[in-house]
Amino acid sequence: MAVTEVTRFAKSQFIPHPMMLFAAGTYEADGSANLTLVSWMGFYWDGGLGITLCLDGDKAVKRNFERTGWLTLNALTREQTKLVDALGRASGPQKAEAAARFNLTAADGSPAPELADSPLVYEVELARQLEFDGSTLYFGRISAVRSAVADAGEDGTAVYDIVAASPLLASQRDYCCLTEGDVLGPWC
Ligand SMILES: Cc1cc2nc3c(=O)[nH]c(=O)nc-3n(C[C@H](O)[C@H](O)[C@H](O)COP(=O)(O)O)c2cc1C
Repeated sequence: MAVTEVTRFAKSQFIPHPMMLFAAGTYEADGSANLTLVSWMGFYWDGGLGITLCLDGDKAVKRNFERTGWLTLNALTREQTKLVDALGRASGPQKAEAAARFNLTAADGSPAPELADSPLVYEVELARQLEFDGSTLYFGRISAVRSAVADAGEDGTAVYDIVAASPLLASQRDYCCLTEGDVLGPWC
């Protein structure tokens, strides 16, 4: 198999591993809802579970998160691919129109909008941020998690149905997803 050396021509854009795609929900200063596609999300532990989120450049989501101290991360689904694609390509006034096609509602416990039909919603309170050359890495406390596809297991822990969630993933340039045959069995 030929090995391609990607560093020379794709150093900054080459992120081929699948990343789960979320819509970050924030409120603008005028009270309108903003939705931003994000995939650079991870987790950390600080006496409780938190999320890391890297946001680059100058974005409404950054200004809103820093002003209100809150955002929601809403998992997106295969069924929403067309809406997601339209949101991802939109800019200026079209972006608000593309966001308005989603089923938005107010989150229960935080000043941020959420997607009513998302299978997994994190409510996140801003804890810290680190500034880098061109991006900001945010650390947020997860204050609540809601899932339409999780049930209480026998030991009381929530059991998440990844196939029912039908999460939308992003890999470099493509959207992708899981199907039933792709779930291979438990890892513990
Ligand atoms: C698939 C996909 C994933 C993205 N992930 C991120 C991300 O993790 N961080 C980021 O800063 N921007 C990300 N973006 C770009 C933002 O969604 C885009 O810049 C958006 O227009 C910002 O909107 P805003 O200014 O209303 O916040 C992603 C875009 C796409 C299409």
